[in-house]
Amino acid sequence: MKEFIEKMPKAELHVHLEGTLEPEHIFSLAQRNNIELDYSTPEEVIAAYDFHDLPSFLTIYYAAMNVLRTEQDFYELAYHYFERAKADNIIYVEPFFDPQAHTSRGIDFETIIGGIKRAQEDAEVKLGIESNLIMCFLRDMSADSAMEHLEMSLPFKDHIIGVGLDSDEKNNPPEKFAEVFAHARAEGYKLTMHCDVNQEDILGHIRECLDLINVDRIDHGVNCLEDDGLVQEIVSRELGLTICPVSNRFVVQSLTSAEIKKMLDQGIKATINSDDPAYFRAYLNDNFIALAEEGKFTKEDIVQLSRNAFDIAWLPDSRRQNYIDLLNEFNSN
Ligand code: HPA
Ligand code: ZN
Repeated sequence: MKEFIEKMPKAELHVHLEGTLEPEHIFSLAQRNNIELDYSTPEEVIAAYDFHDLPSFLTIYYAAMNVLRTEQDFYELAYHYFERAKADNIIYVEPFFDPQAHTSRGIDFETIIGGIKRAQEDAEVKLGIESNLIMCFLRDMSADSAMEHLEMSLPFKDHIIGVGLDSDEKNNPPEKFAEVFAHARAEGYKLTMHCDVNQEDILGHIRECLDLINVDRIDHGVNCLEDDGLVQEIVSRELGLTICPVSNRFVVQSLTSAEIKKMLDQGIKATINSDDPAYFRAYLNDNFIALAEEGKFTKEDIVQLSRNAFDIAWLPDSRRQNYIDLLNEFNSN
């Protein structure tokens, strides 16, 4: 199974580029940008990764980003991820980025997007990895700030396929951003939102995503299984869910393998993703392999999880079919 997973062509639809910042890279960037760190080795940084819920993760995640300053820094961040993705046989990616986490530190939007875009172009040519960017708003910042960043993104609309919503979910429901997301939709962006596992009023948040925001996808969303009405709606709309097993384990002490199996049985388009692989110390193949060890999945289930990702990817149908053909070809050999 491990070898099968490693060789299987895959798409990744839930990975925060800032969550791919490896400790070694934090050190090299700190040195280049003359920034003092509280740690003296990358191992010390990893030892401080003590997450047990979303806020405890976010504190460390935002602090580390301070080393990202120049266009070249953002280029390297993204390109290192694409190289790592290549090693996992990922052929298509829709990565998230968090512009407000950088503009709030005085970094220009152009610097961020310029570096990432250049890495995407190089990854396509040199690594054969296609990608489409998703811009996330930080839900613990104001709706006005989100709207300002939406406006800032418009000159770069050709390089951004959709918008998402991440960061601290407590008291920051989808409804807070209804106007921003309606505006994003009118500008042609696809829409997704995090509904992180076991958050306060999570079923209410999922319901708002469906009824108020009319999302094209939900990030995480595992808790939908607790409400038959939500499941029915998600199945009938063929809405994809981007599940992140190792990320879930930090909150619920399980890879949610039983839930993922149930989703497949119920016809929900569940996908497997790494979320913040540098922090959770698990890239995409690690997530699949750990999941297959914890749960009862056949090879067909594993292929279905990969097929779901291509099915729900924001791609033109001809591109989608090319990828599904590659996956089918792999599966028939
Ligand atoms: N949830 C919310 N915000 C985030 C996450 C996440 O998993 N990763 C990075 N920002
Ligand atoms: Zn996430």
